[in-house]
Amino acid sequence: MSEDFTSHEYDVIVIGAGGAGLRAAIESARSGAKTAIITKSLLGKAHTVMAEGGCAAALQNADPRDGWKVHFHDTMKGSKWLANWRMAEFHAKEAPDRVRELEQWGAVFDRTTKNLINQRNFGGHTFPRLAHVGDATGLELIRTLQERGIHEGIDMFTEYTVRHLLKEGDRVTGCVAYTRVDGDFHAFSAKSVILATGGITRCWSVCSGSWEYTGDGHALALWAGAELRDMEFVQFHPTGMVWPPSVRGILVTEGVRGEGGRLFNSDENGKPHERFMFNYVPEMFQGDHAETIEESDQWVEEVVSGKIATVRRPPELLTRDVVSKAINSEVKAGRGSPHGGAFLDISHRGEEAILAKLPSMHHQFKELAGVDISKEPMEVGPTAHYVMGGVIVDAETQETTISGLYACGEVASGLHGANRLGGNSLSDLIVFGKRAGEHAAKQAADFAQPSIDDSQVQAAIKEMIAPLERGEGENPGLIYDAMRDMMQEKVGIIRVKDELESALEDLKEFSQREKNCFPGTSRKYNSGWHQALDLKNMVDISIVATLAALTREESRGGHTRDDFPGHEDEYWGKTLNICWMEKGEIKIRQEPVEKMRDDLQDAIKEVKAMIAERAAEQGGGN
Ligand code: FUM
Repeated sequence: MSEDFTSHEYDVIVIGAGGAGLRAAIESARSGAKTAIITKSLLGKAHTVMAEGGCAAALQNADPRDGWKVHFHDTMKGSKWLANWRMAEFHAKEAPDRVRELEQWGAVFDRTTKNLINQRNFGGHTFPRLAHVGDATGLELIRTLQERGIHEGIDMFTEYTVRHLLKEGDRVTGCVAYTRVDGDFHAFSAKSVILATGGITRCWSVCSGSWEYTGDGHALALWAGAELRDMEFVQFHPTGMVWPPSVRGILVTEGVRGEGGRLFNSDENGKPHERFMFNYVPEMFQGDHAETIEESDQWVEEVVSGKIATVRRPPELLTRDVVSKAINSEVKAGRGSPHGGAFLDISHRGEEAILAKLPSMHHQFKELAGVDISKEPMEVGPTAHYVMGGVIVDAETQETTISGLYACGEVASGLHGANRLGGNSLSDLIVFGKRAGEHAAKQAADFAQPSIDDSQVQAAIKEMIAPLERGEGENPGLIYDAMRDMMQEKVGIIRVKDELESALEDLKEFSQREKNCFPGTSRKYNSGWHQALDLKNMVDISIVATLAALTREESRGGHTRDDFPGHEDEYWGKTLNICWMEKGEIKIRQEPVEKMRDDLQDAIKEVKAMIAERAAEQGGGN
């Protein structure tokens, strides 16, 4: 029996309403394309808000020596030399304009004393580079884009979950969704579809993402025949809350360390003891570290007047992969804080500065943990925060390996290689969101409106309602929790072959359990049904991530193999792991990394020489 559904027609459909989706939709609508956003959640509720500390762009406000070449160098180095260099070039060159554009659209950034957009320090950035709004930058970015979007005439479908991409031959021609409130079905014809669905970190039990981050876009792309790259690279942000258990994983912004926060291990009495990060400085960053960081206004004065020549950073601002592994090692060595993390202390900055620069963190710890961070240290530990891998896209257009299908933001891959620098996600969203919207609209102009193929829609609906018709089976919530715990244990920060193989076996079982689960029969307000459907993505995407982790026999950035410790300093990434689906089975192959263009290699050398020269002037390593 065929099910009823409502049909819609658009030039461009954007799936996801975070920073990337909103920016893409704005650009598409501005180009004259009839544009809609479909989001499984509410407008404004996106992981973008978890990029609290800032948006990286070489504006040169906090340090005039910054520029696109330094940002490009830092992104490539931070990526452990595996980023797509063409994307890193676009990103470094275009981020300043995108930030200034946000300001023109009403974003209220923190200012320097000279009334320029202020920029703060973050890990792996040579200069203070993060334009910020206290510790709520992502929220301000979303607010600004939403307001702008409203005036571009974009149609919004909120609380609609897309489960299937429609195709005509090899081309994507729309999608099928259901409404979360009442389980109605909708089919969308579109000349171009943009995935902007964010990440996959709900596949791990300790994560900074909320319920939405179940790899929807990654799975839709995989099922539609697109290729994914390097899904083993998952970023464990060093500082999530560890206590109380109900809030474990919630993000503690890197802005705390950017404002001078220091990490301590614990003595045998559970009190802050040693500033351990000095013991974990990798060779490639040796000499970069200093006891403290300068405050930005004073810093600018001193740079401009020539008093500061070198670039020195506290070891807490090493890249996230390094800091996370260091905390993990301290905890394993029995030097963890009482609830299994490290101490993060910013109290030396005083209440006034903390309330001015980190008001949300102050509030968060007061409300959720009963800790006053202006007087006592926080307890923090790694939390799954971001996936660097994702859907393969063309650097310029953001088109995936399937025509008519685009991807931008976290669901896409390339810019961050093996490790993302903090703050590079917000700039990624606005740079590549714009590019995706522009090119999707341009391509849409060349195509006639596709017709909606009823048989594909009915097949998608059949798959969606299957869990409701089983009559009996396991509660999907139990499978969901067990799978996330398994991924945390076996595909976490530190990985080994045996555990990864065992995880793949477990995932086969989870796949069977998912196929037999039963969330009850109702299509209305049935969160169990939504979870049953999410599980399907999560199983497939977890298989991709685990298979890629098993295949990559080296340690690099967000992927650490205890059985292949290797030495990632200063050697270029050699291979990419490409995954795709064939007849329902996930496949993997390795491809060599494309050699960097000569002028970009020269830019890297130039920046390295600049940094070395400054260090020599200062008489210290750098
Ligand atoms: O720590 C943070 O504020 C997160 C920023 C990011 O992931 O870019």
